[in-house]
Amino acid sequence: MNGRKGVRRKGAARRGGGSVAVYPGSFDPVTNGHLDIITRGLAVFDAVIIAILVNPQKHPLFTVEERVALIREAYKGEARVRVDTFSGLLVDYAERVGASVIVRGLRAVSDFEYEFQMALMNRRLDPNIETVFMAPADGYSYVSSRLVKEVFQLGGDVSALVPKLVERRLREKYGKAAR
Ligand code: PNS
Repeated sequence: MNGRKGVRRKGAARRGGGSVAVYPGSFDPVTNGHLDIITRGLAVFDAVIIAILVNPQKHPLFTVEERVALIREAYKGEARVRVDTFSGLLVDYAERVGASVIVRGLRAVSDFEYEFQMALMNRRLDPNIETVFMAPADGYSYVSSRLVKEVFQLGGDVSALVPKLVERRLREKYGKAAR
């Protein structure tokens, strides 16, 4: 059907159920850079599932429930966006929810090696799922959840980098010491 050797198409796209993309990550917390990628994803795919990894080995600032709530709030009323959590292999999750595409943001060359490795490993694990890289708007190419937390904690202004609600929650987490 698609003419590419070794690639079988199944999942939602083949079933004619519309194109569903999974946008996975830690989102601790969601930034305007993430939202920019989601908006770009919605321009290309019928639906985007934001899938937050539940990783007991990590010690996130925000609980998984808090992270889900923050993203849901940002997309209130947008029927084409779903926010979910997953554990285990990403490709297994994607198959389960009928997604044929994994979306990842590519900010700079420094992201490339890690992202390329993941894309190829995911393809090896499941050749039915394609990884699509999207570049964020220039203004977000340096924004990461890690830096947002660090800058905020040290009193820096992150108001242009995260949704208002995230800024408020950061203030609650870090207390009065931060901005
Ligand atoms: O935002 P992050 O933390 O860089 O996201 C990394 C994520 C969640 C996409 C990646 O760690 C992942 O997919 N983990 C699930 C486990 C898995 O499938 N591992 C093999 C991927 S090659």
